[in-house]
Amino acid sequence: MALVDVCIHQNLQSDIIIIPAIGHYIVNSGGKRFRPLLCLLTARLFGYHGERHIPLSVVVEFIHTASLLHDDVVDSSDQRRGSPSANGVWGNQASVLVGDYLFSRSFQMLVSDGDMAMLSLMSNVTNALAEGEVLQLSRTFHLEMTEAECLEVIERKTAVLFKAASEVGAHAAGQSPETVAIMAEYGMCLGVAFQLMDDALDYMAEAEDAGKPVGHDLEEGKITLPLIHAMQGDAELAVRVEEISERGCYQEGDRAWVRQRVAAQHGCDFTMNRAKDYAARAKSLLPNDVDMDVRKLLADLADFSAHRPY
Ligand code: IPE
Ligand code: IPE
Ligand code: MG
Ligand code: MG
Repeated sequence: MALVDVCIHQNLQSDIIIIPAIGHYIVNSGGKRFRPLLCLLTARLFGYHGERHIPLSVVVEFIHTASLLHDDVVDSSDQRRGSPSANGVWGNQASVLVGDYLFSRSFQMLVSDGDMAMLSLMSNVTNALAEGEVLQLSRTFHLEMTEAECLEVIERKTAVLFKAASEVGAHAAGQSPETVAIMAEYGMCLGVAFQLMDDALDYMAEAEDAGKPVGHDLEEGKITLPLIHAMQGDAELAVRVEEISERGCYQEGDRAWVRQRVAAQHGCDFTMNRAKDYAARAKSLLPNDVDMDVRKLLADLADFSAHRPY
C-alpha cells in the first residue's frame, strides 16, 4: 500500500498546476484506499509477487477518485473525507475537469500496462459506472423504487468497481478465467454490501465520523433501502417524503424527523442485514487452495464492508 501511494503521487504530475493541486488535495485528505487494497490482496491470494498490480490498483483508485470528484458536484456535496470537497474549494468546473483528467490518466496507465484484456475490463467497468450514475439520476425522487431497482443502481454505480478490483488482481496473478470469474463475483457481492452500508450510514452516522454530509441522500432525491423499508411500514413517512419530493428540498426539521422515523422502522437494521448477507456470500466464494493468511484478510474485508463505522 506504501508503493500504491508513491505511484498515486507520481501519476498526479502535470505542468497544469491546478491538476496536481486538486489531485493531491483529495488524495491527501484520506480515503480508506479500500479498492486498491482489495486488488493487491486478491493478487497475493494466488501467490503473486510481481509489481504489475501496483499501477493497476492505482488505476482502480483513480477511477474511484474521479467518480467522487464528479459525484460531489452532482450531489451538491460540500464535504469529503473530513475536509471541504474539491468543488467546495475550487468550484464545480475544476472538479469535473480534473475528474476527467483522472479518468484519462487511468487509461494511459492501462495502455502502459499493455494487456488488452485489462484495458477491455476497465473500459467496460468505467462505462458501467457512468451508466449507474445516470440510472440513479433518472430515478431521482422515484418514490415507488423497489428493493430490486435499488440493488440495480448499487451494482452498477458502485459494486462494479469492487468487482473490477478483485478481477484485476486475479487476472494479474495469471489465474484461469473460471477463478477470475469467482473473484469477480466475490468483489461484486462485497461492493453491494459496501454501498448498502453507505446508504445505512447516511441515516445513522454523524457527519464528523463519516467525513461527508449525512441525511443527504433523500435531500438529493436518492431513495435508498433504509427509506424504502421504513416507508413500507409508516404511511406518514411516505406522505412527508412525497412533500419533500414535490418541494425538491428539506424544510426546517425534515432531516431529523425523517431520520427518527427511519430509525423507528428499523430501516438501517434491515439494510445492514442485507449487507451482511452479501458479505457472507462474498466470503463463501473465496477459494480454499490459496494463501490462507491472505484469504483471512479478504474475509475480514468482506466483514468490514458490512460492519464499517465510516
Ligand atoms: C465512497 O467510497 C463512495 C461509495 C461508493 C460509497 P469510500 O467509502 O470507499 O470512500 P473513501 O475513498 O474511503 O473516501
Ligand atoms: C456512491 O454513491 C458514489 C459513486 C459511486 C461515485 P454516494 O453518492 O452514496 O457516495 P457518497 O455517499 O457521496 O460517498
Ligand atoms: Mg454522493
Ligand atoms: Mg452515500
